[in-house]
This record gives sequence, structure tokens and C-alpha cells, in this order.
Amino acid sequence: MKRWRTQVGIVGAGPAGLLLSQLLATRGIDSIVLERRDRAYVEGRVRAGVLEQGTIDLLHEAGVAERLDREGLRHHGISIALHGQRHPIDFPALTGGKSITVYGQTEVTKDLIAARLSRGGDLRFEAESVTLHDLDTERPSLSFEHEGDYHEITCDFIAGCDGYHGVCRGYLPPDKAAALERDYPFAWLGILADAPPVDENLIYCRHERGFALFSMRSRTRSRHYLQCRPDENLQEWSDDRIWSELRTRLGKAGGDALQPGPLLEKSVTPMRSFVVEPLRHGRLFLAGDSGHIVPPTGAKGLNLAASDVHYLVEALDSWYRAKDARGLDAYSATALARVWKAQRFSWWMTSLLHVFGDGFQDRIHLAELEYLLSSKAALATLAENYVGLPF
Ligand code: APR
Ligand code: PHB
Repeated sequence: MKRWRTQVGIVGAGPAGLLLSQLLATRGIDSIVLERRDRAYVEGRVRAGVLEQGTIDLLHEAGVAERLDREGLRHHGISIALHGQRHPIDFPALTGGKSITVYGQTEVTKDLIAARLSRGGDLRFEAESVTLHDLDTERPSLSFEHEGDYHEITCDFIAGCDGYHGVCRGYLPPDKAAALERDYPFAWLGILADAPPVDENLIYCRHERGFALFSMRSRTRSRHYLQCRPDENLQEWSDDRIWSELRTRLGKAGGDALQPGPLLEKSVTPMRSFVVEPLRHGRLFLAGDSGHIVPPTGAKGLNLAASDVHYLVEALDSWYRAKDARGLDAYSATALARVWKAQRFSWWMTSLLHVFGDGFQDRIHLAELEYLLSSKAALATLAENYVGLPF
């Protein structure tokens, strides 16, 4: 049995937990990060890849943006493909100069892990049976097993950054917490391929056979997605069938520019909207996917993890500097206000671009998409949400 203490105990070494630990360290606040999986697994996960400027600013503040600045791809817009036509959306023109950057979450995670370890951060991989204790006291604690030893750490605060499938959300008292959710009647079949992107910008494509997204990780590596059934059997999708379906759905809007290449990863991701309220119980605070999930259509998941972390770091810093608890007391409401705006945008983008198999509703969504593409005012609302609402 090993007993010790730290200021903030963090569960989960995804973007939320790692960024929180790194930013707390810049404020002189000690933390420990407990991660269930091993480092190779965490660094091998293929996830999203669009960063809002607010997220980039936080990564700079955390001192982990050197490779991002070098390798990140600055994008000044996206395109929407409909009826064989590609409609470019000019973000700077519609938002007074704002843009996004494409840089894989995998790379963000690698940069944060390297920074924590190189600066002596306490980051424990393969931490098993993490359990939270005494959350409604001033001395909450974490217990876990690591390398054959049983550990107990007393903290001032615990951050639940363990994602949708983590344990921390389960510590919210059922009579005080509410989960609000929507499951969608489709999923995304995603591929990572050593093949050049279709275009310099992302292309969101609505086709009668379903949605397709043409993204990238670099000028030689593509990330594409196809709308598929929620219970899709990946075994039924050969590489050739995937490339053929991508080309069909893009059609005259660019299908000829699609250059197949070797697949590095193939997976099916379910689509859901989920929020738990509040994001706090006593000394436990949830940040990132542990508190909310968005359908990836709006590219908001990683960016919401970043804004949650921003609010929580400021609140914890105020408490440690001046025992000012106002930020902590306002954290849940502040974070949820931005979460729900991103939930709305992600639900809206998902609704317009996917085929639900509901005749009337699909025609309404198609009419709204056709209106959107015809209206500068409507495109401005898409652009300002996509580049990211203020933190
Ligand atoms: N104990 C310790 N670690 C855990 C536990 C547990 N019981 N359960 C889960 N974890 C770890 C997972 O292995 C993962 O590394 O918590 C981490 C949570 O990371 P993410 O799921 O990436 O969540 P978050 O950091 O909030 O980042 C959100 O990740 O999933 C994407 O689309 C999502 O882009 C968004 C981003
Ligand atoms: C990605 O590149 O993985 C990506 C980009 C935009 C999205 C979703 C995923 O909306």
C-alpha cells in the first residue's frame, strides 16, 4: 500500500486529461494523470483532426504547439458537395478572418504525453481499478493498482477526463444528475489511407446513398468517412468497395480526383449526442467526453474538451491563488453553455448532411441544405460555428 497526496487527481490521459495536467503545471499546480491503457494504445488511437483557434491558443499556452505550428494545415474553409456540385465556404470572408487548422488528435495526444513526461509530470499508464472516494469532503482520494502495488492518493480535487466509457460519470448521484441523449440511425465507416487528399479543404458530401466526408492528416495521408448502418459489418467492406462508394458519393463534385491508396486503419464509429448535467459532484469535475459526446460532423469533440479544460484550469487557479471558489461553483453552467451550442451545431450539421430514411424529414433537411447554400446569411452562421464560438 502506497499513500501520498497531490493537488489535482486526473482520471484519463486523452486530450482533456493531458491538457488539463499540462496547463495546471504552467500555473504551478501539481497533478497526477491515471490512464487505464498503455502508452502505445493511447498514442495509436485514430480520432478527429480539426482544431479551432481557441484550442490552438490553449496548446500554445501549454507549451506544446511547436510541431502543430510546423505540421498543422491551416484551412480557410470547407466545401459542401450536393447534387454533383461542390460549394466552397470561405471562412475568413464570413467570419472576419477566422479559420481552422487540421492536425490529428493522435498528434495532439503524442505532443502532450511527451511534454508531461519531459517535464517530470506524473503520468501513470496501465493504472487499473481506479476508484474515487470521499468526493463530498475536502479530502477526496483516488485508489488504483499499478505495477503490482495498491495506491491511495489524497487530492484537493478530482477531474474526470476518462471519456464516454470511463467510470467518473458514474459517481454523479443518480438523483442529482440527468443524462440527455440522442442516438442516430447510422454510423461512420472511417478509413485512414496513404493517399493524397481529394482537395486542399475538407469536403462534406450529401448523396442519396448517404453522407461522405473527405478529410486529411497531411498532403499525403487522407481520412475519409462513409455513412453506414449502426450495426455495419466491417468484414463486408473491402478496400475496393470503400473506395468505390466514396467515389460514387462524391460523383461529379470530385470523384475523379479521388486517388485510392493503402489503408492504415478502418473502423465504424457510432453516432450519438449525449450530455450529463451537472458536470460536477462535490470535488469531482467532469471534462471532455466523460461529460458529453457530439456526432463528429461538426468536428467539435476535441474542441469541447479544450474549452472545458480552459474553464476548469481558470477556476482551479483562482481557488489555489485566492481560495476563490466562484469559478469552480460556476464551472458546470459555464462549460455546459458552450457544450449545448456545439451540441446544437453538431446535431444540425448531422441532420442536414445524412440520410435518415424518413421521407418527409429527409426532404426537409435537403430543402434546408439547398437554402443554406443559397444564402450568405445562412452560410455565415455555419462558418462562425464551425471555426468555433468564443470560449
Ligand atoms: N481509468 C483510467 N483511464 C480511463 C478509464 C478508467 N477507468 N476509462 C477510460 N480511461 C481513459 C481512456 O483509455 C482514454 O485514454 O480515459 C481517456 C479518455 O480519453 P478520450 O476518450 O479521448 O476523451 P477526452 O480526453 O475527453 O477527449 C475527447 O477524444 O474521443 C475523442 O471524439 C472525442 O475528440 C474527442 C476527444
Ligand atoms: C477528421 O479529419 O477526422 C474529421 C474532420 C472533420 C469532421 C470529422 C472528422 O467533421
